[in-house]
Amino acid sequence: MRPETTAPVRLEDYRPPAFLIETVELDIRLAPKATKVSARLTVRRNKGTPADAPLVLDGDELALTGLTLDGSALASDDYVVTPDRLEIFRVPDGPFTLVIDTRLDPDANTKLMGLYRSSGTYCTQCEAEGFRRITYFLDRPDCLALYTTRIEARASEAPVLLANGNPVDAGPVPGTDRHYAVWHDPHPKPSYLFAMVAGDLAVMPDTFTAADGREVALNIFVEHGNQDACGWAMDSLKRSMRWDEEVFGRVYDLDVFNIVAVSDFNMGAMENKGLNIFNDKYVLANPDTATDQDYAGIEAVIAHEYFHNWTGNRITCRDWFQLCLKEGLTVFRDQEFSADMRSRAVKRIADVRLLKSHQFPEDAGPLAHPVRPRLYHEINNFYTATVYEKGSEVVRMLKTVVGDDAFRAGMDLYFDRHDGEATTIEAFLACFAEASGRDLSRFALWYEQAGTPTLTVSSTHDAAAGTLTLAVEQRTAPTPGQTAKQPLHIPLRLGLVAGDGRDLTPETVTGAEMTGDVLHIVAERHEVVLSGIAEKPVPSLLRGFSAPVNLRSDVSDTDQLFLSARDSDPFNRWEALQTVVTKTLIAATAALASQSEPVLDGSLVAAIRANATDAALEPAFRALCLQLPGEADIAREIGRDIDPEAIRAARAWLRSSLSDALTPALLGLYNEMASSGGFSPDAAAAGRRALRNVVLDYLGNGSVPEAAELVAAQFRAADNMTDRFAALTTMVHANLPGHEEALSAFEERHRATPLAMDKWFMVQATAPAADTLDRVKALCAHPGFSAGNPNRVRALIGAFATGNQSQFNRVDGEGFAFVAAFVQDLDKRNPQAAARLMSAFRSWRALEPDRRTRAETCLKALAKAQDLSVDLRDIVDRCLQ
Ligand code: PHE
Ligand code: ZN
Repeated sequence: MRPETTAPVRLEDYRPPAFLIETVELDIRLAPKATKVSARLTVRRNKGTPADAPLVLDGDELALTGLTLDGSALASDDYVVTPDRLEIFRVPDGPFTLVIDTRLDPDANTKLMGLYRSSGTYCTQCEAEGFRRITYFLDRPDCLALYTTRIEARASEAPVLLANGNPVDAGPVPGTDRHYAVWHDPHPKPSYLFAMVAGDLAVMPDTFTAADGREVALNIFVEHGNQDACGWAMDSLKRSMRWDEEVFGRVYDLDVFNIVAVSDFNMGAMENKGLNIFNDKYVLANPDTATDQDYAGIEAVIAHEYFHNWTGNRITCRDWFQLCLKEGLTVFRDQEFSADMRSRAVKRIADVRLLKSHQFPEDAGPLAHPVRPRLYHEINNFYTATVYEKGSEVVRMLKTVVGDDAFRAGMDLYFDRHDGEATTIEAFLACFAEASGRDLSRFALWYEQAGTPTLTVSSTHDAAAGTLTLAVEQRTAPTPGQTAKQPLHIPLRLGLVAGDGRDLTPETVTGAEMTGDVLHIVAERHEVVLSGIAEKPVPSLLRGFSAPVNLRSDVSDTDQLFLSARDSDPFNRWEALQTVVTKTLIAATAALASQSEPVLDGSLVAAIRANATDAALEPAFRALCLQLPGEADIAREIGRDIDPEAIRAARAWLRSSLSDALTPALLGLYNEMASSGGFSPDAAAAGRRALRNVVLDYLGNGSVPEAAELVAAQFRAADNMTDRFAALTTMVHANLPGHEEALSAFEERHRATPLAMDKWFMVQATAPAADTLDRVKALCAHPGFSAGNPNRVRALIGAFATGNQSQFNRVDGEGFAFVAAFVQDLDKRNPQAAARLMSAFRSWRALEPDRRTRAETCLKALAKAQDLSVDLRDIVDRCLQ
């Protein structure tokens, strides 16, 4: 029998809290198996709460050991307590003081929520609902309080004691082997931003002089031995602080900013006020163990968490339905930061690739939900690509719709008006409506409506009249729980490219509003007439990917290849090439499925060659022009009756065909892009490596006889992880001679560095070979693997489930069965991680019938299990809906 499903939480049920908690004084006495927490709260009845309403506090797996109200112990019939709830029947209006004592076992906490230990270090994770695993509380983001935290621990076990805010006191506890520290955070905050850390950690200190002249102490804490790997993170932090001052006028507001890297962490990192806690993957880097992508990831995540100080912390969310208020906005901010630090065009392409590969499938499947959901069973399952990445796209569109100046004015107004509040999307949008004078009610539907709109555009040129007519149509397919869709406000950035590459400017525009080069599409259908266009131009549509839509247009392949050479918008130059490549791959998939020969058009080869070898373009961009869409990207474009094996074969065919067609150019580039001097992680050097390594992969998959040795030689000689791992990946995935020896050599070299070993697990888990599943099963017993560590799980099982289309989706269903069994086991230890892994099944309905049946059988078997966590049950049920 299935247990009763828990009642969902609904946006429309939001009510302000019945009580307010004004101050929180925590006294935390740490011990591995029995930590004592005493929380002294100042509580007040909220306006409008009836005088006889009880005080109800949230808990989760808590053990209450003491309870007093204004100094007197409560009698057992004054309250009722369970591990997940404390209700006190009669309380005064207050303010009154409640002291709640709880006892925790951090060692037994495998969920990595609340207070737990990672490699011996005590640390906390409270977003979204982890604070209630520390003490009974009004654990909701609209309950803002001032926190003072006293931490006490054995001095030898935890010489470093940290909490939010500024340090105010510290010292030994006389007559014991213990010591303490007291921290005070002067900014009111919700409980999800609470944090403390205690452990034996090394520190990298630095300072930053803020725009207002204050000196801020910066510290990055890591496990001993890793101090030398924090330099890049610290550098990224200082650049983030400066950038937020310069671009958004936001200055840091405490005396210290601390970052702690831990090795066991469910997510990327956490923006706790003044004490960010990071997955060590997003802090530690040196050339020998981190790739260029890792460096870029660290820069972005450090910035992201730092930027939350204003977008998330100073202004927080009223309720969890507003999650995108802080996440979408902060992703937008970190994307802009990286664009300024690196190449804007390359960053935009990378972000759109990520959006399409992670968010578009979510929006097209059973887990689709609006950027602001209206209902959830488990909020942890809504830290999704839709809330984060699509949420960022919505902010980016907002900027496009209102224009740069009104966007900045709207942001200033938002900071001004809502500082210190827990607020909503409506309040955020109101600032931009006010700053721009625009009606944003249709735009606001982007937050409400799930699914990726399809935008269809066709054009007709009338030479005699000198007009170009664009027929534009938008449509959004139904998504779970949302059948009828309304037209959205879609900013369509447009170029009209003349034969010589110049952009033509229309004299008049009718049928839609146009501001600058942006057409405002607000209805289901528009017929837009642009006048003063004598020469027939090629329309360059959706420049910079100005809206997260699926674009269908009548631009011919010839015109796309023209754009790939001449468009002044670099994003669309790349996108034009991708469009033709994807079409070729879809046709090849169909051809191979019907045993016929796929065709590669010579003009496509020429266009790829032209972009790859154009010395006027930056190498990182040229690398992207050579990179083929992934197997999952091709599957997404095909949409239904997916045969992952046919897709893999089609992609392999195109890769080897291009390799053979471009061999001399590829060999030339390989030599030309070789580094001259030592390693530097900067964007320019990384771009050269990216181009050289994509070239290497083509060569390794082509028919040049000496290519295998070239790849092996790069593996042996590499002085950095980017080049070493690129060579290893090509060797393993192309099954080149010596790949087993290379795997052993890599393991030998990096055995002691778990983050580097993650790459070793990953490269094996993503190999498109028939024996990969057996290998993954065997690797689960490898001494470097641990099912308790989320990074290891992602590197081995996660990479197999989401990064190996042909083997996870094996036609015998063994890939599904393995992952489902692993998930079910993991669920007992870490439900959040299990649920996340399970979402790999989200596209099962798009598979061809045999595989679809296998996946369904597997999901149904799991759904029958009795003891699934709320997290996992939610994902399984929605996948089957
Ligand atoms: N709020 C974190 C971020 O995006 C993510 C996170 C969510 C971390 C929940 C832990 C738990 O910056
Ligand atoms: Zn965030």
